[in-house]
Amino acid sequence: MTVARPGLACVVMAAGKGVRMRSAVPKVLHEVQGRPMLEWVLMRARALEPERIAVVIGAGADAIRDRMSEWDDEVDWVMQEEQLGTGHAVAQTRSVCEAEGRQVLILSGDVPLLTEDTLRAFRDAHEASEACLSLLGTTVDDPTGYGRVLRDAENRLLRVVEHRDANEAERAVKEINTGIYLVDATSLYRALDGVGNENDQGEYYLPDVVPILQGEGASTQAVVLGQAEEFLGVNDRQQLARVAELMRERTARSLMAGGVTLQDPRTTYVDEGVEVGRDTVLEPNVVLSGQTRVGACCVIGFGSVLRDVILADGVTLAPYTVAEGASVESGASVGPFSRLRTGAQLGPNTRVGNFVEIKKSRLGEGSKASHLAYIGDATIGAGCNIGAGTITCNYDGINKNPTVLGDEVFIGSNATLVAPCTVGDRGYVAAGSTVNMEVPGGALAIGRARQVNKEGYRDRLEARFQRLKDGKDKEKSR
Ligand code: UD1
Ligand code: CA
Repeated sequence: MTVARPGLACVVMAAGKGVRMRSAVPKVLHEVQGRPMLEWVLMRARALEPERIAVVIGAGADAIRDRMSEWDDEVDWVMQEEQLGTGHAVAQTRSVCEAEGRQVLILSGDVPLLTEDTLRAFRDAHEASEACLSLLGTTVDDPTGYGRVLRDAENRLLRVVEHRDANEAERAVKEINTGIYLVDATSLYRALDGVGNENDQGEYYLPDVVPILQGEGASTQAVVLGQAEEFLGVNDRQQLARVAELMRERTARSLMAGGVTLQDPRTTYVDEGVEVGRDTVLEPNVVLSGQTRVGACCVIGFGSVLRDVILADGVTLAPYTVAEGASVESGASVGPFSRLRTGAQLGPNTRVGNFVEIKKSRLGEGSKASHLAYIGDATIGAGCNIGAGTITCNYDGINKNPTVLGDEVFIGSNATLVAPCTVGDRGYVAAGSTVNMEVPGGALAIGRARQVNKEGYRDRLEARFQRLKDGKDKEKSR
């Protein structure tokens, strides 16, 4: 028999100005690994399947709602007009979150490294205890600025004292409050009514509910879990860079644990959720983002940037391949300096070389475009060769028009294929041609001026120059 868990609500505090960022952008919208900090926290909150998520916003509220509008269905945005402290912030969420028997998980929007595992472990520890309130603590070398966790002789949680309100002995404590709590909803909001603001900042402090609950006879605890670095809050740009670095390290570790070689983990940027198969090698300065999936035994060359790209096994990208919304099948090789745009589909064993741009086009098995081409809105069969300088003229100023090549088509260098354009199987387009009529299968299309040779031309030209020169010399000597 499974015991039903108590319902969960989640409060994310994100109303503060973030003065030390010195930014026109609200602090929680600053990005770490391609996502606003607030989004990282919301993703972790969502993973616990809470019944409600309340996000407290104030400073920069409009910008936050704008940027985070994808979350509108999942989140209640709660306004805190004046930032009177963390206790005041949570009090604003009462009508959204309060319900009999519900637990409230309280998080801050500026702690992007927080992991789902830690939150789950914290929830388990809270539910396994009798505690009405659990506070998540951690021990750090330099606790400056944080609230300290004070315990009694039996090591039980007494209260939290803020750094600026603490005396010297209290400041020596290295156990800090991470600002993460789980607490019974009814007790929380009742206790918040009793919190005052008699402290150095004149703010309503959320941790002040701890002694109030104890006074009511409820039990409280401080739980120590997780790794200190995951609770790092971001208050300035240095901390932002540090958090981004730690997130990069974390991703790198998990990729390497999965059998991926990172030649230089510090300069490899891989978004969370990107999949990379075993024995794939990521060279330095590679960026893999969005919904990218890379197969096994691939090589991603130096400086390649991929977003929402799917690579099958055994694909080689030479340095500086830039791709977005493209897919590449096994054994293909791309680059250096290739650009794959949305809808580029490269079949198995295809070859795309330097300065080739491909958009919304399919290259069939074994086809090649080795240098300097633009291929847009084209369907290209298997075993084709696209010569250097080939251009599909897919745009007539109003519409995008298709180009369709059969199998084993040969397009000579510098061909201009004016779409809509069709070349049948084994068709052949002479170099330098402009093709604006259908080319039947097996035929040769030549669309260029016929070559004319003028015999003995060079001698005649030089003789003429010589005569002109002689005439001028005679004039001078007169
Ligand atoms: C808070 C804790 C401290 C803890 C630290 C962990 C209090 C009083 N102190 O301190 O014990 O060690 O977090 O990082 O809670 N916010 C609002 N509205 C407000 C005030 C704050 O939404 O009126 C938000 C902020 O935007 C921020 C979060 O609450 O996301 C924490 O506020 P902050 O001022 O950074 O708290 P600390 O001083 O760091
Ligand atoms: Ca503060």
